[in-house]
Amino acid sequence: MSAGPAPAPPLPVVVDCDPGVDDAIALLLALASPELRVRGVTAVAGNVGLPEAVRNAGHVLDLAGVPADLPLVAGLAGPIARTARVADEPMHGAGGLGGLRPAVPPRAPAPGHAVDFLARQALADPGELTLLAIGPLSNVAALLVRHPDAAAALRGVVVMGGAARAQGNITPAAEYNFHADPEAARLVLESDLAVRVVGLDVTRAALFPLEAAERLAALPGTAGAAGALLRGFVLRYRARYGTPAVPVHDALAVAALTHPHLLGWERGWATVECAGEFTRGALVTDLRTPERARRTDVALTVDAAAFTALLTERLAGYAG
Ligand code: BDR
Ligand code: CA
Repeated sequence: MSAGPAPAPPLPVVVDCDPGVDDAIALLLALASPELRVRGVTAVAGNVGLPEAVRNAGHVLDLAGVPADLPLVAGLAGPIARTARVADEPMHGAGGLGGLRPAVPPRAPAPGHAVDFLARQALADPGELTLLAIGPLSNVAALLVRHPDAAAALRGVVVMGGAARAQGNITPAAEYNFHADPEAARLVLESDLAVRVVGLDVTRAALFPLEAAERLAALPGTAGAAGALLRGFVLRYRARYGTPAVPVHDALAVAALTHPHLLGWERGWATVECAGEFTRGALVTDLRTPERARRTDVALTVDAAAFTALLTERLAGYAG
């Protein structure tokens, strides 16, 4: 009997994040995805300041039971061309992790700067490494500027950010990650990198329901902790928007890498508005004019039920 084709080797990734509840869930999902090999985690200011982003990422890695030698590296403490301003977004709760404060202090970050770490990782395996960028794009833009040779060695970048056709969430025009560092987002989208954009068009169409969070919260161990994080996230979202289900933005970006067929993609030209009084941080796309096409793929549709099932199943795996 034929053994059939060998499964594809796991894709090496570095997760660049600003945890944030949905970043925490995204990290747990990435670490539980056999399709990926997480080579490290880099932190950037966004939902919380840089020290808190590093601390929260450390807590999540501890929660996931990841060996202490997986690099966690701190990056930029603010946008590349503006004054740093931490989000006053109440959606992530106290401290950025919905009030989760483990008694044990988190692992310490590795020495050095995230941007140099990213460069070393990219150059170690040219054409192989994917960045999963789920916070403001400050670190990724700094990589392009400081280490263009390393940026050119990336396989690609999956970005959670922007709203191509949907309304924004931080202003009517802009999504939070692009608004937080619009110059960085513009540099990334206008670069030669192969960029996949997972924005509010799809994250708002793939809401994770309260019942699924409750079921996870009832499980033991880290699965239960993930469920509790999601339950708090849904409840805060419901209090604000009246919907008993929440977009787990950053986790959908992970699924977009491991299960790209769950999303409907269009390729074209994309940039980010940096100057507009009402439109700063807005994603601007032209997905109709082939002669302007660059290598930006924008997700416009999603199989919401399949995403909920995938996220639930993988987080439930942490119950042991
Ligand atoms: C993005 O903004 C942050 O608050 C979330 O973590 C996510 O990355 C959604 O707009
Ligand atoms: Ca985030």
